[in-house]
Parts: sequence; C-alpha cells; structure tokens
Amino acid sequence: MNVFGRSISPSKLIVSKSSSHPKETVLSGIQPTGTLHLGNYLGMVKNAVAMLEKYRCFYAIVDYHAITVEHDPEELKRNTIEMAFDLIACGIDPKKCVLFVQSQVPEHTELSWILSTVASYGDLQRMTQFKDKGEHQEFVSCGLFTYPVLQAADILIYKASKIPVGEDQVQHIELTRRIARRFNQRFGELFPEPEPIVNEALRIMSLADPERKMSKSLGAKHTISLTEPESEILKKVKSAVTDTGPQGKEKSPGVANLFLLIKLMASPKLLKELEAEYTNGTLQYAKLKMALFEVLMAELKPICERRAQLDETSVRKILREGAERAREVAQKTLAEARELIGVGPLV
Ligand code: TRP
Repeated sequence: MNVFGRSISPSKLIVSKSSSHPKETVLSGIQPTGTLHLGNYLGMVKNAVAMLEKYRCFYAIVDYHAITVEHDPEELKRNTIEMAFDLIACGIDPKKCVLFVQSQVPEHTELSWILSTVASYGDLQRMTQFKDKGEHQEFVSCGLFTYPVLQAADILIYKASKIPVGEDQVQHIELTRRIARRFNQRFGELFPEPEPIVNEALRIMSLADPERKMSKSLGAKHTISLTEPESEILKKVKSAVTDTGPQGKEKSPGVANLFLLIKLMASPKLLKELEAEYTNGTLQYAKLKMALFEVLMAELKPICERRAQLDETSVRKILREGAERAREVAQKTLAEARELIGVGPLV
C-alpha cells in the first residue's frame, strides 16, 4: 500500500458504517495550548482516562486546530510535546489507546476537504466558538471558520461514536452529526453519528472570577495549571472569591465552584460534611478552601511525579508509534470516502 492508502482496489473495498472493532470507538482532540489546567483536566482528560478500559480510544493533540489563530511556530512545537507529557502523566496510557499528533496523520486534512463540501456554510456561521474567537479580531482566518469541519474529520475518520468533550464543544459534535448524516445520505452509509460525552466538570469556573469559565486565555491568576508549585496553588485557593456568608438557599457562584471542585475530587463523606455545615450556616470558607487545597494536592501530586519520570525521547517515540497506528485506520476510511464520492484510484 502506498502512503496515501490508495492502492485498495474498489472491488476489495468493503464499506462499513461502524468500525469493525468489537469495542465502540472514542475519539477526542485537545489543543496544544501550553500546559493543562484544572478545568481541562476535570472537564475532559479525566473522562478520557476513565474510558480507556471500556472503549477503543484515539486521542489526538490537534496542532492543526491551534494554527487557526495567530501562533508562534516554536511555541507550538514545544506545546505539542508538553501536552503529550501532560496527558500521559494524567493517565492517558499509550498502551491502552492511540495517542498521536493530528498533523502526523495527513488523512485528517484530506477528509476535512471532502467533508467541507457537505458542511453547510450557514451552519458554520452559527458556531458560537467561531463567533467568540472571531469577535474583535482584525484578521479572521478561513481556517477559523472551517475549524469545525476539521474537527468532524478527526472524529469521522475513526468512525468514532463517543466523544468526551467540554460543554463548549457540544455544538461542534452536533455539527459533526449533521455532516455525517448529509454525507451518508448523498453518497452511501459510511459514518456513524457520534454522541458527545460531557460530564459535570464541564463548567469549572475561575477561582478569581467565578462568573467566568476557567480558561488559559483569561490569564494566569484565573487558572491552576497541573504542574504549578504547591505554594502558588495555595495562594490561589486561599484568595478564591466567595461571598460574605450564605445568602438564601442558592450558593453564590464562587462557593458553588469550590463545592463542585471538592465534589469532583474528594470522598462523598467529606462533601457531605461540608454541605451539612454549609446548610447549618456554620461553614467557615477558610475551612472549605483548606479542604479543597488538600484534595487538590492529593490529586495533582501523583500527576507531577509521573510527569517528572517521563523523558522526551520516549514521549516522541510514543507519538510516532501512535501516528502509525492511527494512520492504518485513517487510510482505510479515507479510501472508502474517496471511493464513495467518485475520486477513488484510477485503476
Ligand atoms: N475543538 C476542540 C476544543 O477546542 C478540540 C478538538 C479538535 C476536538 N478535534 C476534536 C475535540 C475532535 C473532540 C473531538 O476543545
């Protein structure tokens, strides 16, 4: 087979909608935007780790998505490797999944072109991420506009059916379903319609401004990075915005956020105790914060230790091998798609 997987003759091509694998397929993509923060970790990565045992998982570091806004090439290179370190340290075990860098599997971009012909211009215009990222920018690239089509290609090329994502990505997965549906209707059944897997942690808010989602773009004081020194984490947790005491039944956004974080990492027993104190009106926020700090360190310490044990040569090798394994599957789907639309090999 040549590198583009085009030597499959049409007669041998068996088009199958779902993958022939006995387990359902999971795919997720994560942008190489510096080190992971707590919001990414609890919102997506932990979910992705939990899926390793049950599903056939593909996890991509999506560097081609990262270039849709202005970027520094050297930084992108570094961030791509750093993200692999982070993911492996968080428990994305490369023995249990295919971990790779998107640009190393060129079939994604080729399928993306094909899918762009069945993606609706109007649908793309309605994407809120496009509107948000494009707003107030002097220059908006075409790539930013077609970003969700590449995302659809990332997913459909593995015929993935379960997509662990943060809440902000649900719209893109819906779009992927529409793209798959339109392709299947026009050219024949090829792609399953994927479903987003979103968990509660999708809305981890900034500790410094609990009305806004924890995001790197807000600045360092709004996020807790997984590899941040303990003293910094303590400072950020201590200065988390709360309120001046319970006001009615509803927790204020800051307090609700602290409780959510505790719920996601602590034992149900600890959560229950703190909830009870809150309801009685006896909970000191200093205590709540220290409880959070403790569970946070218990969660992050093993990740930092694992990260320190990894070396760059092995991480690069993991990514190369991952891309090879991903390509085997991607080449097959691409050949099927090409055949269906009438651009199969000229034999
Ligand atoms: N757009 C996603 C984000 O910003 C990243 C992404 C790219 C992705 N391709 C994907 C997520 C495929 C899930 C599946 O978070």
